[in-house]
Amino acid sequence: MAELANKRIVLGLTGGIACYKVAEFLRRAQDEGVTVDVVMTDAATRFITPVTMQALSGRPVFLDTWDNRVPNNMAHINLTRGADAIVVAPASTDFLAKLAHGMADDLLSTLCLAKGLCPLLVAPAMNREMWLHPATQRNVALLKSDGVTLLGPAEGDQACGETGSGRMLEPLELLEELIAFFQPKRLAGKRIVVTAGPTSEDIDPVRVITNRSSGKMGYAIARAAREAGADVVLISGPTALPPPFGMPCIAVRSARQMHTAVMNEVQAADIFISVAAVADWHVANASTHKLKKQAGQAPALEFAPNPDILAEVAAMPNGPWCVGFAAETDKLREHAQAKRQRKGVPLLVGNLAQMAMDADDTALVLFDDKGEESLPAQPKLQAARQLVQAIAARLPRADAP
Ligand code: C5P
Repeated sequence: MAELANKRIVLGLTGGIACYKVAEFLRRAQDEGVTVDVVMTDAATRFITPVTMQALSGRPVFLDTWDNRVPNNMAHINLTRGADAIVVAPASTDFLAKLAHGMADDLLSTLCLAKGLCPLLVAPAMNREMWLHPATQRNVALLKSDGVTLLGPAEGDQACGETGSGRMLEPLELLEELIAFFQPKRLAGKRIVVTAGPTSEDIDPVRVITNRSSGKMGYAIARAAREAGADVVLISGPTALPPPFGMPCIAVRSARQMHTAVMNEVQAADIFISVAAVADWHVANASTHKLKKQAGQAPALEFAPNPDILAEVAAMPNGPWCVGFAAETDKLREHAQAKRQRKGVPLLVGNLAQMAMDADDTALVLFDDKGEESLPAQPKLQAARQLVQAIAARLPRADAP
């Protein structure tokens, strides 16, 4: 799935050690089909050579306002015409100050002023004291009010040996942010809680009973909701997936832990999307020590029902707008509509377990009070983005973005 096919960006590098990360960002962005025109400030060329950026981008690199390779000598105008975005990464303290105050004393700052409607995204990279300095924070506030999009910065270890806020995002995080930027913001400002993955119910300290769920669908929905502008909290049972970027991820194991986490988080939520494969029962006679194997014998397990998290949230007065999931092995339509009514949710998403389990693709069917709508088989992130659009379209008027 080439996420940035047919897009062209202007990639501006300013002076900072994070320039080395931008070479990798360029490579990974090209994997997604984007064309990149690189512009570098003089300070950027002290950290990484134009040769490197030209070899990687496969296009001439621009350094100078007076570049006579451009027929009309107006690189500062031409480069952004028809471009889908300017991405300045790394963006130094000095460059943010210049942008905020409309200075135009080199090619990159000049083209940022001459850009017209071309969106401008900046990825700050600097020492934590420089980032926290009131002058920088003032400039950042000015840039935001001018409609500039901030990508990061992140917290962590810095090249100078200090630790704090001001690190540039990692290359793949930058790429995810750029991809997100181009998604429609149909859920801007909404607070969304998503559950994902299986739950794991203890038999004893080393043995569990669980459901088969990779977590891929729930994680894709959490990402798609964030791309659509929502503030997302993910509550996840045990999966092999890395925590998604840009949202808190609360790790739980059992259904009862998931229940507690959901009840804490949904109080402030507008939408609850229950994708997790929650175990229906836990082991009532779970052992606190490891059960010993005895020849010819098996333990007798007793089960007790788990709370139905979705039904409970759906029944809350003034609770969030709820979306349930159903993975069925057969008779999807009958089971899904019955489940939707039983749980009392406005939207229930069905899929066939034998197709969706562990797979990277899925074919979802949406069931609501008007009937059903089938989405095509497609990668889970694509399906998640369509589902997010479908949710935005179904929100009651007062909740609609
Ligand atoms: O039929 P079932 O109760 O498994 O319905 C599945 C839907 O209900 C999913 O959205 C799942 O996340 C949710 N669920 C729940 N609590 C349970 C069982 C399922 O929230 N104990």
